[in-house]
This record gives sequence, structure tokens and C-alpha cells, in this order.
Amino acid sequence: MRKMPELMGKTMLIRVLLVTLALALVTDARASDSEGKRLAYVLGCVNCHHQTPRDIINAPPLVIVQEYSIEQFRVLLKTGVTSTGRNLADIGSIMGVVAIEQFSHLLDDEVTLLYDFLLKDWTQATAQQEESKIPGLYKFDEEAVE
Ligand code: HEC
Repeated sequence: MRKMPELMGKTMLIRVLLVTLALALVTDARASDSEGKRLAYVLGCVNCHHQTPRDIINAPPLVIVQEYSIEQFRVLLKTGVTSTGRNLADIGSIMGVVAIEQFSHLLDDEVTLLYDFLLKDWTQATAQQEESKIPGLYKFDEEAVE
């Protein structure tokens, strides 16, 4: 008689733990959907690459990430060395500086989330939308064409 409630208690506990785990996984997946995007904005990738006029920071469009494998992307963010082996810090590029000083502190999981977002969800249309938020950017481009 005494064993029965104890057993039920354990079964109940296991059930509660399983439900909690399932909920945690679902919540985590939802959070990770937006975490990569959040990182791209908070770390300044979007800012330097799309919202700062090219005469101030000449960064290529972020769709360039589609040419990177995850391993090459990791190396770029941790060391500032590009997929073609250019050492950006050595040539005095700000990208090399932020990689070594700032992005090298990213956790591996964060780099993966950022990569997934830029690879799958970052398009030329998104880039244009960001650039249109800074009208001066287009003004500069027009002047540059003249
Ligand atoms: C402070 C400005 C700045 C920030 C912040 C920045 N970038 Fe850059 N990035 C640059 C510049 C400038 C270049 C061009 C470097 C060159 O070719 O000399 C560049 C180049 C790159 C390249 C292309 C390298 C190649 O193959 O030529 C990738 C990919 C890239 N950045 C990704 C990112 C990502 C992802 C982030 C955010 C985690 C980021 N950048 C944040 C300025 C920045």
C-alpha cells in the first residue's frame, strides 16, 4: 500500500519533467528563430553593411554570407580571415578589427544562429529595406553616380 503512491509519485514526476522538457524545446526553437536576426542587428552587421553610407564604411552586401560555409564563417568572425584567406585585420579593415575584438567572444551556438539567419532569411530585398531607412545613403549613391 505504501509503495503504490510512491510509484505514482515518481511516474507523475517523470511526466511533469517530460512535459517541461518538451515545452523548453519548443520555446527554445521559437527563440532561436529570432535570435539569429537579433544578433545580426545588435552586433552591427546590418548597420555597417547596409545602413552606413559607403563613403564611410565600404562593406559588401550581407548576401555575401551565402558564399560562405559555416566553417569559413566561423573563421571570419573569430579571426577576421576571409574565405579566400585575406587577413582583414592585417590590411587594416574595420571588419578584421571587430572580428578580433568583438565577434571572437561569440559562443559557437550564437555564430550558428547568426549564420542560419543570414544564409536563409537575408535577401537583397531585406537589404534594400534597411538602406531605405537612411535616406542619406541613397543621396550619397546618386551623387556618386554623377
Ligand atoms: C564596423 C563595421 C562592420 C561590422 C560591425 C561588420 N562588418 Fe562585415 N565587413 C565590414 C567591412 C568594411 C568589410 C569589407 C572588408 C574588406 O574586404 O576589406 C566587411 C566584410 C565582411 C564580409 C566579407 C568578407 C569577404 O569575403 O570579403 C562578411 C561575410 C562580413 N563582413 C560579415 C559580417 C557579419 C556577419 C557581421 C556581424 C557579425 C559583420 N560583418 C559586421 C564592416 C563591418
